[in-house]
Amino acid sequence: MGERKEITVHAIKELGDEQASKELARLASEIIVHDRLYFQEDAPVIPDADYDYLRRYNEVIESCFPHLIRDDSPSLRVGLSAVKKFGKVVHAVPMLSLENAFDEQDSCEFISRVKRFLHMDADEPLAFTGEPKIDGLSVSLRYEHGLFTLGSTRGDGYVGEDVTVNLRRIASDVPKQLPGEDIPDIIEIRGEVYMNRADFSALNEKRKASFQSLFANPRNAAAGSLRQLDPSVTASRPLKFFAYDVGETSLPLADTQMGVVKALKSLGFSTNPLMRLCEDLTDLCAFYAYLEQERSSLGYDIDGIVYKVNRRDLQRRLGSVTRHPRWAIAYKFPPEQAMTILRSIDINVGRSGALTPVARLDPVTVGGVIVTNATLHNEDEIARKDLRVGDMVIVQRAGDVIPQVLCSVPEHRPFGTLAYVFPEFCPGCGSRSVRDFNETSKKRYVVRRCSGGFACVAQAVEMLRHFVSGKAFDIEGLGARQVSLLFEMGIIKTPADIFTIERRQMAGLIDLEQCEGFGKISVAGLFSAINRRRKIDLDRFIFSLSIRHVGQITSRILARFYGDFKSFYSAMKGADELESEDRRELLSISGVGKTALSFLVAFFSEPLNEKEIERLLQEVKPEIWRPLFQNAKLAGKTVVFTGSLEKITRSEAKSRTEALGARISDTVSKRTDIVVAGSGAGRKIKKAVELGIQVINEEAWMGLLDDERI
Ligand code: IVH
Repeated sequence: MGERKEITVHAIKELGDEQASKELARLASEIIVHDRLYFQEDAPVIPDADYDYLRRYNEVIESCFPHLIRDDSPSLRVGLSAVKKFGKVVHAVPMLSLENAFDEQDSCEFISRVKRFLHMDADEPLAFTGEPKIDGLSVSLRYEHGLFTLGSTRGDGYVGEDVTVNLRRIASDVPKQLPGEDIPDIIEIRGEVYMNRADFSALNEKRKASFQSLFANPRNAAAGSLRQLDPSVTASRPLKFFAYDVGETSLPLADTQMGVVKALKSLGFSTNPLMRLCEDLTDLCAFYAYLEQERSSLGYDIDGIVYKVNRRDLQRRLGSVTRHPRWAIAYKFPPEQAMTILRSIDINVGRSGALTPVARLDPVTVGGVIVTNATLHNEDEIARKDLRVGDMVIVQRAGDVIPQVLCSVPEHRPFGTLAYVFPEFCPGCGSRSVRDFNETSKKRYVVRRCSGGFACVAQAVEMLRHFVSGKAFDIEGLGARQVSLLFEMGIIKTPADIFTIERRQMAGLIDLEQCEGFGKISVAGLFSAINRRRKIDLDRFIFSLSIRHVGQITSRILARFYGDFKSFYSAMKGADELESEDRRELLSISGVGKTALSFLVAFFSEPLNEKEIERLLQEVKPEIWRPLFQNAKLAGKTVVFTGSLEKITRSEAKSRTEALGARISDTVSKRTDIVVAGSGAGRKIKKAVELGIQVINEEAWMGLLDDERI
């Protein structure tokens, strides 16, 4: 560490804006390295006193130059470093989220969908539970032989964070030991951690009195309080817990949702007293109306109602799509709204060149959160709503969705406003902005795009930012700001360049330490962060490539299907050929549609991309896909259904097979492991036999599913 300058407000004020801003940049990147070494690797390289000095130095500069506080300032990031400290927990049963319904029509369609899936008549009775949707954060509590052993957050639904010690400190709502003799050997309780409104206000009052930052709403307060490194802080916060479901269990608690929640209550958990059984849509809607009215007097925030099929056996049969169970839906209350002034419209250039208009607003509180930016979607939306700079507008925020500008208020329109004209040129590179023609709909696409392609600097930077971001390569210390800086300096142009920085630095071709915000320590930290990512999960690798319509879920589906990069890559090249088996197979993967296919094929046939991938593969190694649930009965197997099934619908068959860890394809190929043959199957069986693949009939396959657990 460099010499310690004496910290006096007077001396610091003398720095002036330029010097102060340089110092803040340097401190931000230096402190993050020490945070990582301390919090994640338990390997600090400087004494605590030196670390405290860096933080204090940063704080004093910030107090003297508040207008220079950086978005990535260490003083705004205390919680973040703590979060990274928690261990990972792979959920034995994924923690899914819920599909949303926004009106009665959606709820009605949900019921019809469920009945269709189960081959029921539309007027056959089917009971649902109605439960308040608690606005908190979901956790899973694992009990082994009655003892609380593991508590975790939801995370991405498959892998969460280990917050056992913190959950132990939630007073009476999380029993340490389950009562009674006949409790299952293993049981996971799922539910919501939340904070009462009154407790939230009192907590914020206390924080205000001691000049601490305030929580925006009870949900954020609950999340921030649970994910504390020091469990005594969690213990001091008034957190509560409602149990509503069971994850893995060695013995089912009951055969209905109502029964499960009743059993959870008798095991000592708090359950929501408002839950009720609804026999049909009329009951469900009446319950919605009742709860919407009671909402403000409940004492805790709810953001809708969850409807669940009551019978557990039917829930099991219905199974789930990638992220949601088919047997439940969340009927959301209408979003909260507020009025403010539209100050300007900026254009954001996305990594695929999409130009998105963004509203800059006078700050306004919407449902407990301060909003200053909102999306305006596209050119047509602005024209349709006739939004003008200077207008009074209504802003809407629903849950975690990006705030939207709904409309302007014509009676408040100031004199002299002008209709908005979308820029004809990309603000990032000056190329023309264009609206492509959609051959299918015979209309122009609503999204205007930059036509600069590889020449557009803004797109290139966005692609790099995406590449290093948390859900892709997750390179610590290389945030959006650093990426722009390194790009501007010509140090990185494409993703592969990131992995050659260290070699170039060693060879004296570049000098990173000369760049604003990089010191000796932060450069060393950056190199080690980059090197740690030379091995990467296959799905993250695919996601990092910024292929249009290939998001996190599609990337996971592709990684799961192809298993390793080589097979994936050769299939993508092969799929370029219209009649190829690779193309048929790609299209047959459930979750991959025609649009994703065309962008995948186009991406991998572009010579510049091919070259970039070749360069990347010399630097990094995408790992072979390993199923999360390696002990699931069909983990990693590819199953093809052919012919017609008699006992069950094709969609239920597929869903239940996927639930056992298998992937489904419609094409028999060398990658297929099992072919399930229904009646009338022909061509595919012949091919399976030729390839030496196991063929089983519907009955044998039903046997496989028989002892499936919840
Ligand atoms: S059931 C597979 N029931 O809502 C079933 N969720 O948007 C998954 N939530 O992640 C959840 N109250 O955090 C369920 N009574 C309730 C709930 C509830 C709140 C939350 C939960 C979930 C999210 C889904």
